[in-house]
Amino acid sequence: MKSIQQTFLSLTTLVLFSCATPDENAQAGAPAPVAQNSKEQAAVTRIKTLGGRVLYIAKDAKEYSVTITKDSFGKTKGFTVADAKVLGELGNAVEISLQHPDADDAWVASLKGLNGLKKLHLEKTKITDQALDTIGGLSSLEYLNLYGTGVTDAGLGKLKNLKKLKSLYLWQTKVTEAKAKAFQEAMAKAGNKDLSINLGVGKDLRSVNTLARLAKARAASETSARAAAAKAAKAEVERIAAIKMPTFDKDIMPIIQKRCTECHGKDKQKGKLRLDSFVELMKGADGEPIFVAGKPGESAIHTRIMLPDSDDDRMPPKGNRISQPVADLIKRWIEQGAKQK
Ligand code: HEC
Repeated sequence: MKSIQQTFLSLTTLVLFSCATPDENAQAGAPAPVAQNSKEQAAVTRIKTLGGRVLYIAKDAKEYSVTITKDSFGKTKGFTVADAKVLGELGNAVEISLQHPDADDAWVASLKGLNGLKKLHLEKTKITDQALDTIGGLSSLEYLNLYGTGVTDAGLGKLKNLKKLKSLYLWQTKVTEAKAKAFQEAMAKAGNKDLSINLGVGKDLRSVNTLARLAKARAASETSARAAAAKAAKAEVERIAAIKMPTFDKDIMPIIQKRCTECHGKDKQKGKLRLDSFVELMKGADGEPIFVAGKPGESAIHTRIMLPDSDDDRMPPKGNRISQPVADLIKRWIEQGAKQK
């Protein structure tokens, strides 16, 4: 009975936690944040009262994320610079999102000293390079979105001490690609090789480490592709070697089609020679047969492919020579009587 009650209780708490609106959370005092001082608690309550969202990252966690949007405020209430001052008390905030068009450098100035902050969304706010003075000191920052703000090339350097910064969004700002690249390089030199910078759709300056990982993966896949090709080639050699009684239709024609008929076929007959059927092959060029059953040494089809690469008469005249196993197969075919079937 007791355990059922306990289960019920913890379920209720869970439901409360996940369904309650921020305001209800504030009233119910749940979830109970750990280690928040009274100023921080007051700030959290104030933000919730003004319609901001405060979401704890997990049940019983002390860290939370804060979202302030224009829509979430009642018509009579406005989140002003004065209210923005409370942001500075949010010592356990790991993420702050100022989705408010009035947010400007003065709002951001309030964030000074929030050294636990990992993510900061300032996209489409009024901030300028001045805000970067404050942001540059937020030492835990991993993600910074400045999309559609007034920041420029001149401000970028102020972020140079953000050793943990991984994602920086600069799309539709006045930051140039050249400057963004130079900044990324300088950061990598100083030890932060994980910084990726986004300059728009499909315009990602991927981090040094990401590029290295991709290069490694590519090399690995090339190696395995090479290994697969080598394995296939070996299997093909074994297959050919295993053909003890070759016939023209089954074994020789496929080789000729692959390597000879582009010049000795229906469309072209180089040297007046056609090789696209057994009948044509027997005709040879100008009535000269190109194979003599039983005599590979007198069969042009074999002697030509055995000529050294330096010889102009080698067939095919360009591209890779016919491999030894294939040449041997042709030889075996002639030796065994050059049968069609
Ligand atoms: C890129 C074009 C090309 C390809 C591919 C090619 N040949 Fe030739 N072949 C020629 C040309 C051009 C001649 C005529 C010049 C010469 O005799 O070297 C010729 C001539 C020959 C002759 C001599 C014919 C005669 O005059 O008695 C033989 C035999 C021959 N080729 C066999 C082959 C075989 C077998 C293959 C495939 C393994 C092949 N060729 C692929 C261009 C080609």
